[in-house]
This record gives sequence, structure tokens and C-alpha cells, in this order.
Amino acid sequence: MISIRNLYKSFGNHRVLEDISLDIEKGETTVVIGQSGVGKSVLIKHIMGLLKPDRGAIFVDGDDITKYDNKQMKEYLQRFGILFQNAALFDSMSVGENVGFPLREHTNLSDKEIRARVAEKLQVVGLAGIEDMLPSELSGGMRKRVGLARAIALDPEIMIFDEPTTGLDPVMSDAIDNLVIETQERLNLTNVVISHDIAGTFKIAHKVAMLYDCRLIEVGTPEEFRNSPNPVVQQFLARKAEGPIKI
Ligand SMILES: Nc1ncnc2c1ncn2[C@@H]1O[C@H](COP(=O)(O)OP(=O)(O)OP(=O)(O)O)[C@@H](O)[C@H]1O
Ligand SMILES: [Mg+2]
Repeated sequence: MISIRNLYKSFGNHRVLEDISLDIEKGETTVVIGQSGVGKSVLIKHIMGLLKPDRGAIFVDGDDITKYDNKQMKEYLQRFGILFQNAALFDSMSVGENVGFPLREHTNLSDKEIRARVAEKLQVVGLAGIEDMLPSELSGGMRKRVGLARAIALDPEIMIFDEPTTGLDPVMSDAIDNLVIETQERLNLTNVVISHDIAGTFKIAHKVAMLYDCRLIEVGTPEEFRNSPNPVVQQFLARKAEGPIKI
């Protein structure tokens, strides 16, 4: 679905991405892992067209989106749903208003249709009937799920998850991972996930891509990662400070 080809990006003298090539398959979950500050968010922003590369191309359905003008880019962005790290709910709005917000902004649906769509999306994330609650009344896990309901409100093709389980307990993390898998299968989404959670990554990923020192040093299935002979990969998976990784 998305083919990244020989992508380079620097900010001033600071090189972040170097010769990145990656294929993101339709209907699969691709997880990008790597140290803090390595460039995961920068890579995702290129996929969404929010940053332009210095060199390289990103083909989506055969089109190089790095060449899109503003109007084409706006249409392209409509194909994405995004779950931010902090869920980014509007605290002054109820859950129902939060999930309905993109529908009110981007569609001509009636109030009744919006209410029905909101109810359906809350059902998908296992939170049916909580429309009238306020974000401040929700646990972290519930906030994430409401954020997911809002992200899928416009029926996106591609879902971007920036660290969906960071800050959650292990049980809630696993529940969110299950939801990532369920929504992906149910809505036939193409998922791109940034994660620091190795166990979760192995559970949800069809494909894992590891960024290190500006480059993708390993791309493969969870099985291929576990068996990787690369000492950098093995150090990261073992979550050890000792090893070849520069801190
Ligand atoms: N707009 C920008 N202008 C200048 N530098 C930037 C910009 N965006 C990102 N960077 C730099 O690019 C590098 C990679 O940042 P990025 O946010 O992609 O890291 P990350 O891998 O997502 O880290 P984390 O896991 O902590 O979120 C950092 O050194 C950051 O300072
Ligand atoms: Mg980041």
C-alpha cells in the first residue's frame, strides 16, 4: 500500500533518516521500533505527508505523495486515522462530542446520523453507552479507547498509532493490543504503529522495522527479529544498557 524508497531527511546538519526503504502492506500491521530520538515520529510524519524528505519517494497506490500539492495532500490526509500518545481528547467536550467531532468537521451527516455513528464506534472499542461522560472521568485505558473510537470515526484506511500502550499497566496494554488487532481485522485497516513495548510489538506486528543510527537496520516478521544475528537488535530486544548501542 505504501512504498518508501530511498528516503533521506536532515534538519540542518542533523541527519535523521538515511536511505530508508520500507513497504507497508495493505491490511497488515507494521511496527516501527527504535530508541528515543532515533526518528520514528519523523518517519511517520513523512508517511502522512506532514514532512517533506530531502530526497526519496513515497508511493501510495502508485502516486508519489511527496510531489502532492496542498489540495491533494488534504485529500490524502483524510485517509488516515491517528491515535496520539496522550489520546489528545478535548477535555471540555463529552465522550460523544469528542468521537463525533471529526464527523461534524468533515461530513454533512445529520445530528441523528452522527449519534448513530458515535454509538457504533464506541461499541467497536468496547465502550458502548458512555457518550455523556467527560474525559476527566475516564481511566487512561478508557481515554485511549475513546481516542481510537474518534480516530476510526471517518472510516480511515490507514491507522497511525504513536505509542498506543505507553503509560498503561500490562493488562490494559494487552487489552489495547487486542483492540489494535481486532479493529485492524474488522475494518481491514493498514496499521502503522510506533512502539517501545517489545512484547506488544511481537503480538500485533505482521512486520517489524527497526531504526538505528539513521537507518532501518532490520525489517522482518517477529520470528525473524527473535532470530536476528544482529547484536544491536538483540540488545534492544533484551532491553539491556550494555552492548553495541550508543546511548
Ligand atoms: N521539526 C523538526 N526540526 C528539527 N529537528 C527535528 C524536528 N522533528 C524532529 N527533529 C529531530 O529529529 C530527531 C528524531 O526525532 P523523532 O521525534 O522522530 O524521535 P522518535 O524516534 O520519535 O523519539 P521518541 O521515541 O522519543 O518519540 C530528534 O533528534 C529530533 O530533535
Ligand atoms: Mg516519537
